[in-house]
Amino acid sequence: MARVHLAAWRSTYAGILPEPYLASLSAERESLDYERGILERRGGHAGFVAMADGQEAGGSGVVGFITGGRSRRPGIADGEVETLYLLDDFRDRGVGRRLMRAMASHLASLGAESAFAWVLLENPSRWFYERLGARLAAREEFTFAGQKTTQLAYAWQPINTLLTATATTKLPR
Ligand SMILES: CC(C)(COP(=O)(O)OP(=O)(O)OC[C@H]1O[C@@H](n2cnc3c(N)ncnc32)[C@H](O)[C@@H]1OP(=O)(O)O)[C@@H](O)C(=O)NCCC(=O)NCCS
Repeated sequence: MARVHLAAWRSTYAGILPEPYLASLSAERESLDYERGILERRGGHAGFVAMADGQEAGGSGVVGFITGGRSRRPGIADGEVETLYLLDDFRDRGVGRRLMRAMASHLASLGAESAFAWVLLENPSRWFYERLGARLAAREEFTFAGQKTTQLAYAWQPINTLLTATATTKLPR
């Protein structure tokens, strides 16, 4: 997961977040953070990973993941998608949607009636959330690694809108 985190941050946030910060990311540090989150399971925190078997070009093992749990900002929604990252070679194949499906089901199982995700204003992935039916719920300025940045909260209210938007498999008639 840490390996995917580093690769996705460096490719997604180049030109958006400060280069020295991206260069300083450490796989060991991220690895410890993800491990701690998985072990503590604070607020129903959970993660789902997408795996490739090595037959695919672009890598094998974990090629993407999503984490989330009860909202760290209850005013916006009940459940929160905290991270969602794929290696470049595994984008645009429906993996993001399937990971969102897994997280939506998990959040619903915790009793969340709504869900949201933060995304940087300049990150084109915000259109992915819109494609999955999310609506803009909040906008916030903050300073990250010494640089002023804007983030947007995209919300699914009720959470069923996300479950429906990610239901790719249809039962046979
Ligand atoms: C955002 C991300 C997870 C999307 O995953 P993905 O597997 O590429 O997306 P999918 O193939 O499941 O796409 C689902 C739908 O969203 C659309 N979509 C995906 N990315 C999009 C984008 N950037 N802009 C517009 N539409 C997009 C797809 O075309 C597809 O539409 P369809 O319903 O017509 O089939 C992936 O691109 C990624 O890891 N991005 C970099 C990391 C990142 O920014 N994460 C979010 C941090 S907040």
